Amino acid sequence: MTSIDWTSRPVHAPLKGELTIPGDKSVSHRAMMFAGLADGTSTVRGFLEGEDTRATAKMFASMGVLMETPMPGVRIVHGVGIDGLRASDGALDCGNAGTGMRLMAGVLAGQAFDSTLVGDASLSSRPMRRVTDPLASMGARIDTHDGKPPLRVHGGAKLKGIRYKPPVASAQVKSAVLLAGLYADGETCVIEQHPTRDYTERMLAAFGWPIEFSPGKATLAGGHRLRATDIDVPADFSSAAFFVVAASIVPGSALRLHSVGLNPRRTGLLEALRLMGADIVIENRRESGGEPVGDLIVRYARLQGAVIPEAVVPDMIDEFPALFVAAAMADGPTTISGAAELRVKESDRLAAMATGLRILGIRVDETPDGATIHGGRLGGGRVEAVGDHRIAMSFVLAGLVASAPVTIGDCENVATSFPNFMDLARECGFNLAQVP
Ligand code: S3P
Repeated sequence: MTSIDWTSRPVHAPLKGELTIPGDKSVSHRAMMFAGLADGTSTVRGFLEGEDTRATAKMFASMGVLMETPMPGVRIVHGVGIDGLRASDGALDCGNAGTGMRLMAGVLAGQAFDSTLVGDASLSSRPMRRVTDPLASMGARIDTHDGKPPLRVHGGAKLKGIRYKPPVASAQVKSAVLLAGLYADGETCVIEQHPTRDYTERMLAAFGWPIEFSPGKATLAGGHRLRATDIDVPADFSSAAFFVVAASIVPGSALRLHSVGLNPRRTGLLEALRLMGADIVIENRRESGGEPVGDLIVRYARLQGAVIPEAVVPDMIDEFPALFVAAAMADGPTTISGAAELRVKESDRLAAMATGLRILGIRVDETPDGATIHGGRLGGGRVEAVGDHRIAMSFVLAGLVASAPVTIGDCENVATSFPNFMDLARECGFNLAQVP
């Protein structure tokens, strides 16, 4: 595939407007999975039409789940029941999606048939023992390539429930274990040191599976069934985050972002930016589909460097690339620690952001689990997104406020999570274009 490069040019006017951000990626993956495994027909509205979530839909289609797309963002899913999947003809392709692969490892561990999970180059280099180890202790048989994809999941294993304390803060690990627990004898319990996003727990409950959960602990037992239900997917906070940071750093800006998902395990960036002096107001708070949502109103504010509390790291794990850019524009240093997980995301995000910001003239001291970013003046130049959607969108933000254009190499994967990012960005005043 040829690399798609973008140029983000400095803007000379404030960003203004009201934006509707696409559906949440985490919720869309799970909605597709649980609707596929439910008895009856579920309608999913606000489904993210990104490559990652479409890959999950395609995996279920290839295992016998019929779905209709009456319009973009809507899927009518005819569930086959918890025991109704059948083997796909070929390997199941998760694309770029760690969530797709790790959660599917849990689902497939409980099936009667063998399956193979594959992914793109980035996913093929990501650690999978974090899920295959606990699944093996439940009785699953999964072969990896030295701890990495492809995953060969052997069917017909007899699973038993476990009590598991994940060594890393990871909603994907928790979810994989809970999903295998649907097929296990007895009780499965996951206990987390740092609570992570609880969409699996909330959505299993919405689909009628008995589950007990509170922050940091979830318990369920096998042997029940999922009942079809309709799901309204909120706008993805992690996608909204790019516009939150953009409006915070371009003088005079004011953006309203409609109906953004505000699950407390996702909104750590708001806490971090407020520590830095950002002006963010939440209006119209309500519940939608069992999730807190609200409109975010973000206005420009002069940011100050801050020490990001480690306790907030899991609640903003996907927002660090954008935070790096906010920190580059702040007065004084911003320190991040306790974030080693960033090294095993779609790319090594600590290295990718530190390298790119240095090219643009910012001093960044990298540590094994974080960085100190010394706020300063952003210059122009060419940086690399290394195929990572969030790195690409973060350097677009840098271009807004740099003294010269920023060209970003390898931006095609923005389509994995935010296919209309460029359109929305231009709509509110970004000067962003694909390099011809
Ligand atoms: C996700 C969990 C997080 C996050 C990812 C989505 C999920 O990953 O980074 O984008 O939907 O469960 P980890 O579980 O690896 O932290």
